[in-house]
Amino acid sequence: MYKLFFNLVFKRMDPERAHHTAFRWIRLAARTPVLRTFTAAALAPRYKELRTEALGLRMHGPFGLAAGFDKNAVAIDGMSMLGFDHVEIGTVTAEPQPGNPKKRLFRLVPDRALINRMGFNNEGSAAVAARLAAREAALGHRRGRTVVGVNIGKTKVVPEEEAVADYVTSTERLARHADYLVVNVSSPNTPGLRNLQATESLRPLLTAVREAADRTVTDRRVPLLVKIAPDLADEDVDAVADLALELGLDGIIATNTTIARDGLGLKSSPSLVKETGGLSGAPVKERSLQVLRRLYARVGDRLVLVGVGGIENAEDAWQRILAGATLIQGYSAFIYEGPFYARALHKGLAARLAASPYATLADAVGAETRKAAQ
Ligand SMILES: Cc1cc2nc3c(=O)[nH]c(=O)nc-3n(C[C@H](O)[C@H](O)[C@H](O)COP(=O)(O)O)c2cc1C
Repeated sequence: MYKLFFNLVFKRMDPERAHHTAFRWIRLAARTPVLRTFTAAALAPRYKELRTEALGLRMHGPFGLAAGFDKNAVAIDGMSMLGFDHVEIGTVTAEPQPGNPKKRLFRLVPDRALINRMGFNNEGSAAVAARLAAREAALGHRRGRTVVGVNIGKTKVVPEEEAVADYVTSTERLARHADYLVVNVSSPNTPGLRNLQATESLRPLLTAVREAADRTVTDRRVPLLVKIAPDLADEDVDAVADLALELGLDGIIATNTTIARDGLGLKSSPSLVKETGGLSGAPVKERSLQVLRRLYARVGDRLVLVGVGGIENAEDAWQRILAGATLIQGYSAFIYEGPFYARALHKGLAARLAASPYATLADAVGAETRKAAQ
């Protein structure tokens, strides 16, 4: 049914407008108690066997919404209603910024892919922190039922040499509202950002963010992760993994969008394929999985690995778990699969786990990568 609706309505709309329209509906439904209860019952059934503990947090399951969809933390409860077990908000930058000029989001429907060059359009760390604080006040406690990750990035106008201070400002404002914090150094749409993945830049950055988080949040330790690009060379993936261990990071998110165009069939219009920006969805699946395998082979259970990139269905999610992901995320497939995406994924994951030799989801994490290493 969603496919029909997508073809009749969303496909004819500008992609960014379609996003905002869908977003409005989700927020409206989440604010209407009857609708919220009904929708959550239909779309977010919980499976006991999928309960997940990671980063010191208890979650209904391993599957979350990847960063970029809810940049300003306006729809956390709506996305939870649709079955996402955690929601990563952002990327938030220290200062508000409009992002790149429109058009900046493109659908490559035959390839089940998107290209975006949004450029971190967001309301900035102060406004987002205030919104998260208001949500907590309304809930009456800091944690709701949904785990909230906060993904931070560099303000565009801030030069690379001042990047650390910019991330520290965001950390000081946002860490106290984050169940986990992500340093994003892998979006292709902020000039120079991805240079921060080089260990000589990444070490001082992650050290400063860790210190800022510890300074501002004293009643608990906020888990810290770094999100990397699929375009890193294998040796650079290893270098980030080693650095993450050295600095006592909690995890790595693999991966962001790619600037490569290899994964595309010849189906999408060439004029779309040559749009600049990050490519996501089905074409990034293979490389994201490779990066994840490589990370798990290197770090094993010492870090929480989050698998993201081209996860379209339960089989993709299961493969990521067997490769080494404790948590998994999706974005592009949500656009194509619609509101039943998370439900189908949970159902299929539970079935795969039941048919597998593993007693728990945690036992399955990394099982294939471990086997391949023997
Ligand atoms: C329109 C769009 C905007 C995105 N914005 C962000 C962002 O702000 N921060 C970030 O870390 N990742 C961002 N991403 C990347 C996703 O979080 C994810 O890593 C990537 O799309 C691969 O997953 P997917 O194939 O399931 O979409 C964005 C992706 C898309 C499609």
